[in-house]
Parts: sequence; C-alpha cells; structure tokens
Amino acid sequence: MLGYRVCASILLPSAVALPLNTPLLSSYDYIIVGGGASGLTVANRLSEDPSVTVLLLEAGPADTGEDIVMIPGFIGHDIGGKYDWNLSTVAQTFLDGNARSVPSGRALGGGTLLNGMLWSRGGREDYEDWVRLGNPGWGWDDMLPYFMKSEMFTPMRDARTAEEYSVREDRSVHGYAGPVNVSYPNYQWNSSISLFSGLAELGIPIAYDPNAGDVAGASFLPFNLDPVTQTRHTARRAYYDSIANRPNLWVATGQTVTQILFNGAQGNADASTAAPSDMFVGQGSSPGTVGIFGDGSMLNVSSLPPSPSGGSAAGPSSTLHRRLLVTRIWQTRKTVLSKTRRQTAPSGPSLNATGVEFAPNAQSLRQTISATREVILAAGAIHTPQLLMLSGIGPASSLQALGITPLQDLPGVGQNLQDHMQVWCWYPYHNAYTSNPTELNTNQTFVDEAWHDYWSSRTGPFTSGAIDGVAFPSLPHINPLAAASISSLAASQDPRAFLPPTTHPNLLAGFSAQLSLLATALQDPRRAAYELINANDGDLTVASMRPLSRGSVTLASSLPFTPPLIDPRYGSNPLDLQVLREAIRFNARLINTTAMSELAPEQVYPPVGATDEEVEGYVRNKGQTEYHYSGTTAMMPRELGGVVDAELRVYGVANLRVVDTGVFPLVPAGHLQAVVYGAADIIKAAWTSSRVAPAPFESSSTVDSVATTDPIVVSAASDPGTLSSLADVATATSESTQRTPTADVATTEAPIAVPTPITDVVVVTTWVTVYT
Ligand SMILES: Cc1cc2nc3c(=O)[nH]c(=O)nc-3n(C[C@H](O)[C@H](O)[C@H](O)COP(=O)(O)OP(=O)(O)OC[C@H]3O[C@@H](n4cnc5c(N)ncnc54)[C@H](O)[C@@H]3O)c2cc1C
Ligand SMILES: *[C@@H]1O[C@H](CO)[C@@H](O)[C@H](O)[C@H]1NC(C)=O
Ligand SMILES: *[C@@H]1O[C@H](CO)[C@@H](O)[C@H](O)[C@H]1NC(C)=O
Ligand SMILES: *[C@@H]1O[C@H](CO)[C@@H](O)[C@H](O)[C@H]1NC(C)=O
Ligand SMILES: *[C@@H]1O[C@H](CO)[C@@H](O)[C@H](O)[C@H]1NC(C)=O
Ligand SMILES: *[C@@H]1O[C@H](CO)[C@@H](O)[C@H](O)[C@H]1NC(C)=O
Ligand SMILES: *[C@@H]1O[C@H](CO)[C@@H](O)[C@H](O)[C@H]1NC(C)=O
Ligand SMILES: *[C@@H]1O[C@H](CO)[C@@H](O)[C@H](O)[C@H]1NC(C)=O
Repeated sequence: MLGYRVCASILLPSAVALPLNTPLLSSYDYIIVGGGASGLTVANRLSEDPSVTVLLLEAGPADTGEDIVMIPGFIGHDIGGKYDWNLSTVAQTFLDGNARSVPSGRALGGGTLLNGMLWSRGGREDYEDWVRLGNPGWGWDDMLPYFMKSEMFTPMRDARTAEEYSVREDRSVHGYAGPVNVSYPNYQWNSSISLFSGLAELGIPIAYDPNAGDVAGASFLPFNLDPVTQTRHTARRAYYDSIANRPNLWVATGQTVTQILFNGAQGNADASTAAPSDMFVGQGSSPGTVGIFGDGSMLNVSSLPPSPSGGSAAGPSSTLHRRLLVTRIWQTRKTVLSKTRRQTAPSGPSLNATGVEFAPNAQSLRQTISATREVILAAGAIHTPQLLMLSGIGPASSLQALGITPLQDLPGVGQNLQDHMQVWCWYPYHNAYTSNPTELNTNQTFVDEAWHDYWSSRTGPFTSGAIDGVAFPSLPHINPLAAASISSLAASQDPRAFLPPTTHPNLLAGFSAQLSLLATALQDPRRAAYELINANDGDLTVASMRPLSRGSVTLASSLPFTPPLIDPRYGSNPLDLQVLREAIRFNARLINTTAMSELAPEQVYPPVGATDEEVEGYVRNKGQTEYHYSGTTAMMPRELGGVVDAELRVYGVANLRVVDTGVFPLVPAGHLQAVVYGAADIIKAAWTSSRVAPAPFESSSTVDSVATTDPIVVSAASDPGTLSSLADVATATSESTQRTPTADVATTEAPIAVPTPITDVVVVTTWVTVYT
C-alpha cells in the first residue's frame, strides 16, 4: 500500500476537494488531538482568528448521518458499533470480579455520537468545589455564561405539555444563539408523569429548571436535539459543520496521534516504529453490561422497514455541500501561510511540546507535524492520559518499567479516575394504560406506527430515547439518618484506607481535600447524591453522583495502538455502595406511592426482602459505567496530584494543554457533555490573554467574556443536516463540477498517509484512499 505515492489531486479529485482530510501543512500554530466534544469546541474557537492555523487530528471516521446516529429512538444501539473504541475495564475486584465495558466515541464528534443525549450541567456547588480545589475562575458564575453560549435552546413545545411533564424552564439561564441545538423530543413516555407525582409524594422537589444550578430533585432533562428534524445534534454538527469552510482549519479523520514531540525530539522509540503486531482491537465489550438500557428493553432494529423516503434522518451527507468552496480555500490558505506569525516568548519550562507524531494504524509509518504555539489534548479521559504516558509524561517509575524515558514525572497522569457507577434495577410496569418503551420490542403494530410517525411528521416515540424524566435526589431527601451517617463516615475516613498502598503522597493529599468536600456534599439537601434514571418501562437505574472510589488508566504497553488498562476500581470505597443501597431502598418506597402504584410495578431486581448485605451484593453484581469518565488529568495544584493548572496547562511542559473531561478534578452531578462544551470554551480566554499580554487567567477572563466576544455565527443554511436546507444542498450539488458518489466521500476517512519530502509549503503529504 505504501507504494502508492501518487498525487491525490489526479487520482482522487473528490478527496482533495474536501476540506476534511485535505493534505496537511508541515506546521500549524495549534494542533488539537481528538475531535470529540472538547476538541471540536476548541477547534471552532481557535480558528475564529483567521491569522492562526489549526489542525485537528481525530482517530475515528466522520459519520455519514446514519439513522443509528441521528434518530433519538436508536440511542444506545451504536454502543459497540463502528464509532466505539470497544474498550473494557480490567477485572473489577471490588465488584464481582468481572470486567465491564467502557463505551467511548471514536469519530468526529466523539462521545456525542453514542451518548444518551441528556443535557445537564451539574450543580452550582460542584463548580465552587473546583475553585476550592485550587482553580480560580471555574465557579458556577464563571461557567454559566459559557454553558449558555453553547446552547441554542428551544423551550418545550407548548405550556400544557410542559405543565404535564413538570418542565419549568428558567429562560434566563439558557442561551439562544449557540451552536448546540438543545430542545425536547416531540414525544414523552407518559409513565414519567406518574414518576414525578410519586417523587413529589415523598417530598422530592419537582418542576424546576435542572440547568439553573440547583439540581437536587426531579426534572425532565432537555436533549441535544434539533427541534425541527428531531435528530441528534452532535459536536460535529454543532461545532464543525457550520465552520468547515474556514480556510485556517484543517481536520483529518482516521489519524491516531501516537506521541507528543518535545523540543523537536521523540521520546518513545517504540511508539515511533510501525509495528505489524500492534493491532488495535480493543478489549471487546463485556457481556452483561450492555449499557444505556441496562438489561431492559432493546428495540430490534432489523425488524424495521427501510426509511420511507429512502433517505437518512439527517438529509444528504453534509460533505457534498462543501466541495464548491475548495478553490477559494486553497487560495486563502496560501495567503494565511505567507503571513508572519507571532512566536511565544522562550521562557518557562525547558520541556516544550513542539508537535505530534501520528499514523492511521499501527502498521503505517508515523508522520510528524509541528505546532508553533501549542498542542492541545482532547482525546478524552481515557486516551489523553495514555498519550501523555506514551510520550514520557506521567508517573516516572511506571513509565521506566515499560522502557519509556520519563521526561516529566507527573504522578497524577491517569490517576484520580472517577465515573458515576450505575446500577440497573427492575420493577416492570404491568398497567398497559401508560406508554411503555418495551412495546418497541414486543408490539410490531406499535413499532410500525412509531416508525411511520417519525418519518411523516417527526413525532412519536422515535423522537425520544427511552430515558427522559430523571431525578437527582439528595441523601437527606431520601433518608436523613443515612445522610448523616454516610457523610460523617466520609468526613472521618482515612484517605489512605481505600486507595492502593502505592498511592503517591500528592495524590493522597488531593484525595483528602476531595473527601472533605464530598462529605459536605453528601449531607447537603440541596445537592444531588445520586441520579435516578427512569427508562419508563420499570427500569429505575440509580447512579452515584459523588463517587468516593478512585481508579486509574495505565499503560499496558509502550506501543500506541495497544489499548490502555482501565481500572475504575468501582466499589473500592464502601461508602459508594452504601449510597446506592439507600437509593435502591428508596426505589421500593417510590413504586409503593399512590401515583406509581397505578402503573402496577412489580419489584423484580433486587428482589423484595433483600437484606442490606444482599442489596450491596446486587450493586456489586450490576455496577457499571454511566460513561462519565473524568479526572485522569485533573486540574488541581501539583501538590494535590494535579496534572494541569487552572489554565489547563500541563505542569512542567511548555505549550501543552488538556481540555477534555479528564481535567475535571471532581465529576459534577450531571451528564458531562454540556459541562465539557462550557469548560473547553472558557479556556479560549487564556489563549487570548497569552497573545495579548502574559497575564494570569483571573485578570484576563474578561477579555473573552460573552459580552465582548463575537458570538459563534451559525448559519442555518450551512448546516445541511436540517430539513430546511435540503434545497440549498441540492442546488450546491447540481452546480458542482466535481460530482462523485457519496460513497467516495465516506471512504476518505481512513487514508494511509505517506510521508514525502517537503517540496511545497502547502502540500507535504499526499493521501491515498484505501478502498476495502
Ligand atoms: C454511551 C455513552 C452515553 C453517554 N450519555 C451521555 C448523556 O446522555 N449526556 C451527556 O451529557 N453525556 C453523555 N455521555 C458522555 C459525553 O458524551 C462525554 O462526556 C463527552 O463526549 C466527552 O467529551 P471529550 O471531548 O472529553 O471526549 P470524547 O467526546 O470522547 O472525544 C475524544 C475524541 O478523541 C479521539 N481520540 C482518542 N485518542 C486519540 C488519539 N490518540 N489520536 C486522535 N484522536 C484520538 C476519540 O476517537 C474521540 O473522538 C455519554 C457517553 C457515552 C460513551
Ligand atoms: C468496535 O466493534 C465494532 C463491531 O465489531 C467494529 O465495527 C468497530 O470497528 C470496532 N472499533 C474499533 C476501534 O476497533
Ligand atoms: C429481529 O427482527 C428480525 C427481522 O424481523 C428477526 O429475524 C429477528 O429474529 C429479530 N431478533 C430478535 C432478537 O428478536
Ligand atoms: C518552544 O519551541 C518552539 C519551536 O522550537 C519555540 O519557537 C518556542 O520559543 C519554544 N517555547 C518555549 C517556551 O520554550
Ligand atoms: C399514555 O399514553 C397512551 C398512549 O401512548 C395512552 O393510551 C394513555 O391514555 C396515556 N396515559 C395517560 C395516563 O395519560
Ligand atoms: C400494540 O400497539 C397498538 C398501537 O399502539 C395498540 O393499539 C395495541 O393495543 C398494542 N397491542 C398490545 C398487545 O399491547
Ligand atoms: C408500601 O405501602 C404499604 C401501605 O402503605 C406499607 O405497609 C408498606 O410498608 C410499604 N412498603 C414499602 C417498601 O415502603
Ligand atoms: C437548530 O435547529 C433548527 C431547526 O432545524 C435550525 O434552524 C437551526 O439552525 C439549528 N441551530 C443550530 C445552531 O444548528
């Protein structure tokens, strides 16, 4: 394959004609590693400045708007599919000894292609805790403008439905001009009405806006959903499609970054060598931990007829539209390149990130590209620490053990792994009077009607996932005595008690600081202790929002395509099991309320009469991820085991930042996409200031306040995923002089890139598309 060194513009006009995967320059101002939620946010924001060049490298492909990605009714079905890394944990010895799946997005858009589409920000005090852990500028009031800025919020469609489903929006905390469409499905499963009434009977607050900072209670969460087409709004649609024609932004898919380069040199010789045996295969998903639906109902996708229009939910592939822009882009790129660039003043740490090495797969020769300003890691909380360690940044002794030369001893890299462990519980509803997602599995008439409704009017069950109404109870809400007991046990816990004996003293100090904040949170009636995830069929899953267990991501090998060892150490801190035990006890009271009794629920798992020990045993058996991996490159002082400072700069390395969920020092009580969009955006201020003046983050945050920055302009016509723009796309396509089938476009995602000598500043690599 490597023999095919050809000029891409002759062989593959369509590939060259696309901004996605056009040949790369030898050097960029900024290189972003990973094109998920955080990476695309940063790419969008940095490339607003036309005088800088930005390259984003994403390991996975670009989606083609498949129904399984776009239609909310298919939530959960692409787990383990072609946009998943297929990772697994090591044996979870504090649970039942089995491994667990770790679904993670591997595509342009990352986790936002796989996720449950729930949109929540966590609570006010969650961010004050970040500040308390040494991060000025990250409080709720600092974050809120960025949370708002990310949203194009559409309120519930009518007041009556809002009233019925306890949706009480606070319009002042939402944004209306941002890139992510946030709205409600055109269909609600009506058993959640009974759920909210039942929760209210037991004194849980309902009917408030869950995104206004006070989370504790029950609420109907909005979705990252296009309100008109009722399709998933991924990070790629929100932050990339609308700006794909920026002449200073390069995005390459199918390219895995294998090493960060420092001071122009490679540290890990193993990573640089093409290795035929180093095939990425993931660990495979683990049986019994199927994901979003727990063990509950799963729609049989193959029972559905083809979509009536023969098209996709999203409309024609968005890539078609962009071909017209090509000539202009190449001309402008040349202009951009000829400009002189400002350079960062040489000062600070002697270790300096100067570029990256990357390859489409293990067997390919590595390529290098340099970054004149910064390398920004956005590969997610699992892969960012892996890449740092592969590059020599991490716990020195573990790196040495694998033959990697430690360039910076940072014991926190890969440690402090947090996740919301969730436990599926099962109380099937036997009253057919309410709508129930299990019908998608059992009643073909229901499925056919639902499918027809979706395609004819974008209404019905396929506009929603099974999960919609949820609750975030505090411990005092459900059991004041247990709240006091669990909280005081947490406050008096020896931080060493449940961490591995080898834990570095800095990490112990960090965990100690976290422990006292968590003890406070667990007894606060205004703060969520767990999430009750209602899948409307009797599945009342509970997930711990304040995990005390800490896990790790470590290297299995010095080879970059070998998956890392993921050990969340679920349940290692026994207080996590106690919180979930209380949550499960509360489920039994909940189904016993007048409102819930009408659904005729039957308690099946855990069984009626189970003792505390048996319930905790059940938790050990069923505990799995809620997909909220975070904390592995924590933003905390170095003395507390932190990896990045409050400007997200990696300690001891110049020109290297991390922007993904790994930087969250404590996982907030919410779902993470809205949080990471805000967090990745807030950091633009640091770049702005470092180029204006070398001022600290606090004093510069006003430079980039929402009021003084141009909003991200999103033109409806440039988002070909919307129904309203179908006409535009059709026009653009018919005008295009370089027509090729969409299939060509789709296959450009995994080119083998061949290193060539630099003969022209614009084209340093040629690309050969592999047709398989
Ligand atoms: C199954 C599932 C359900 C979820 N449900 C919800 C939900 O309902 N609501 C919610 O808010 N959140 C949910 N989440 C979480 C949310 O989607 C993630 O927290 C979010 O996507 C994290 O953003 P990120 O930028 O940190 O990482 P990601 O979005 O994971 O992006 C990281 C990207 O980096 C790429 N990458 C990794 N390594 C490399 C490398 N070496 N070189 C190049 N590229 C690389 C990956 O392929 C990926 O595209 C869910 C996640 C999953 C997986
Ligand atoms: C994950 O598994 C699916 C289904 O087998 C496959 O299509 C996909 O390529 C796998 N992902 C990776 C990164 O290997
Ligand atoms: C799914 O539907 C297909 C087609 O109707 C059928 O052949 C298959 O048996 C079904 N699978 C399950 C698990 O019900
Ligand atoms: C980092 O390296 C680049 C490229 O060699 C150089 O221009 C820059 O001054 C260096 N920065 C620091 C902080 O050492
Ligand atoms: C719930 O919806 C179903 C139809 O989907 C309807 O038959 C039923 O009357 C509704 N129940 C309530 C309590 O509104
Ligand atoms: C199947 O669904 C249809 C359409 O919603 C409904 O009329 C019918 O009662 C359902 N059948 C059963 C057995 O629930
Ligand atoms: C359910 O309600 C009945 C009657 O009010 C009560 O006797 C019983 O203890 C309740 N069970 C639970 C688990 O709360
Ligand atoms: C949100 O969806 C609407 C309706 O399809 C569309 O007009 C709008 O452009 C979308 N917003 C963004 C930011 O993409």
